[in-house]
Amino acid sequence: MSLPPAIAIDGPAASGKSTVAKLIARELGYTFINTGAMYRAVTWCLLQRGIDPSNHAAVAEVLPELPLSFGKEGSVSTVLHEGRVLRDELTAPETNANVSAVAGIPAVRALLVAKQREYNTREAVVMEGRDIGTVVFPNTPYKYFVTASEEVRAARRAAEGITDSIAERDRKDSSRACAPLRQAEDALLVDTSDMSIEQVVAFIVRDIRHKLSDNS
Ligand code: DC
Repeated sequence: MSLPPAIAIDGPAASGKSTVAKLIARELGYTFINTGAMYRAVTWCLLQRGIDPSNHAAVAEVLPELPLSFGKEGSVSTVLHEGRVLRDELTAPETNANVSAVAGIPAVRALLVAKQREYNTREAVVMEGRDIGTVVFPNTPYKYFVTASEEVRAARRAAEGITDSIAERDRKDSSRACAPLRQAEDALLVDTSDMSIEQVVAFIVRDIRHKLSDNS
């Protein structure tokens, strides 16, 4: 049985991929899945319990019992802790500072990749992250690597009022051993430095529709 379409949107921090992915999902009527929020939720939950993210054995041990679940609000993914949707916790400074370390732990990635694939067994998705085209859906024909210059990305984060050292996080995300941030060979590169959000969305949606009609 063939699965519904999965659109993979990868790229570095503050590249605009989240905004763009959400709008693409709305345009196509697909579910938007923010996988960074899943890594952030695990990070926040570990810190709450006083677990040091550099202690991989301790993380792997508590992982199965963390009271996290992964759902949807309308057509947008959510992460719940003891049944409550997590929001500001996900971008708290201590979450930002530790999420790359947590995302580098193989047991964490194995758990979350399985949850991410589960969404697509039920519905068509636009999924954004770092390893969607390389690891989560390596066989999807719809892969986009969305990026922008470091100056543009830093300015976008500052405009959001978020404290986040993106260069440092990108360095960690790109150099880790397990599923590093990298453009899939068959992904289309979209440099958004000089493009408006509307232009990026229109460009990617046009490409997806073209490929969808080729594959139908
Ligand atoms: O997209 P974001 O900035 O919310 O992601 C937060 C962190 O999670 C990022 O530093 C890297 C990690 N991440 C990952 O390793 N793999 C993903 N698919 C998504 C995020």
